[in-house]
Amino acid sequence: MATPVRLWEDGFAADPHGYYELLRSQGPVGWGELAPGIPAYVVTDRRAALDLLHDSETWSHDPRPWETTIAEDSPILGMMRWRPNTLWSDGPAHIRYRRTLVDAFSLVEPHDLRERVHRAVDILVSRFGPAGHADLVSDFCRPLMALIFNNLFGLPDSESARLDDAMAQMIEGAETSAQAELEYGRYVFELIALKMTRRGDDLTSWLLDHPLRLTPEEVTWQVVLTLGAGHEPTANLVSNALSRILGNPAYYTTLTSGSRPVMDAVLEVLRYETPLANYGVHFARKALSFHGVWVRAAVPVVISYGALAYFAEKEAGGVHHPHDASHLSWSAGAHACPLKQHTLLIATEAIERLTQWLPDLDPVLPRDQLTWRPGPFHRSLTSFPVRFAPRIPDQSGDRP
Ligand code: HEM
Repeated sequence: MATPVRLWEDGFAADPHGYYELLRSQGPVGWGELAPGIPAYVVTDRRAALDLLHDSETWSHDPRPWETTIAEDSPILGMMRWRPNTLWSDGPAHIRYRRTLVDAFSLVEPHDLRERVHRAVDILVSRFGPAGHADLVSDFCRPLMALIFNNLFGLPDSESARLDDAMAQMIEGAETSAQAELEYGRYVFELIALKMTRRGDDLTSWLLDHPLRLTPEEVTWQVVLTLGAGHEPTANLVSNALSRILGNPAYYTTLTSGSRPVMDAVLEVLRYETPLANYGVHFARKALSFHGVWVRAAVPVVISYGALAYFAEKEAGGVHHPHDASHLSWSAGAHACPLKQHTLLIATEAIERLTQWLPDLDPVLPRDQLTWRPGPFHRSLTSFPVRFAPRIPDQSGDRP
């Protein structure tokens, strides 16, 4: 067995491409580590990824056989523990959970989502706009997703700080993450309890009332999943795109004149620097030989969306249509991200609205001096400081 490539090391955040090259040198399916002592097969080849993602007879999403081999307090379980939700289910249970989520989100009309995004951006700009400087990760992208999802699921804005704090702590610190997970659980529990007694025009109520009749407990697990699945990668999609746009003359000089659309930058992130870098956790139902590697059952097989993007880009030599969507950053097959269109709308509207309010956003550091958060799963900026002329958007009649 090859030496495992340690995706949990700090070095991975600093130089993911070097780590992807090491994995690829082992073949289409490499041998990595997601945390110290927690090995996984890592797929870095497009053909192998597609073969796996389209074969649910061979591959399962159910991590329970693997979980029995893992210490109960292992922090990796936060991202990989079985729950009765769409992500960790196979077959009919998967279809049932996924259907309810897709149907609920389909009731959020694009014009309505656009307005919710604008409102959330306006709230944040009115907070940091007067200062003339901000960290676009902690002052904008992360609280923005908390505001948007808190609102979509049916709570007043005053509750979004709770969600934001819990999410931030779960991601940041091992010390406070158990406490933060409890707080997050309380937030969702109270949300469901409230909507059980009083329905509204919101995702939680639509999930509770769906004709497939999920129990309140099942709805709770779909909400827990969706808030996490939506918050973290979308915040990173927006911050990664902003970091490509600002200071880059190809975008920046044309941003306000409208000739180079923000969508190009968002699609560029999906092609080169996808925010969910390694996930797609699968398990062989029984041991098998797969693309030249003997894969044991109950050991995770992870799809490296980041490596797939990197090698596709290397092969294309930087030549492609700006709207090339052949990347696999939304995954593929039965578990592919069901909310691509919603996500693209949130990301583009958020960036457009922000840059309309603050057209002179100026990065404090060049892009190659920005740092990235360690961790095997995400591609996520630590911070993204910017300066701009102070703006107070709450004067009456003030519009971007
Ligand atoms: C509105 C924001 C988003 C929501 C609510 C959301 C929700 C979800 C849900 C519920 C699933 C599980 C589907 C299933 O198992 O049937 C999923 C899968 C997935 N999502 Fe999203 N998502 C969002 C944004 C994103 C973003 C920004 C990315 C990154 C490009 C992304 C990438 C993926 C991928 C790769 C999967 C496949 C699951 C896997 O790799 O294990 N999603 N998403």
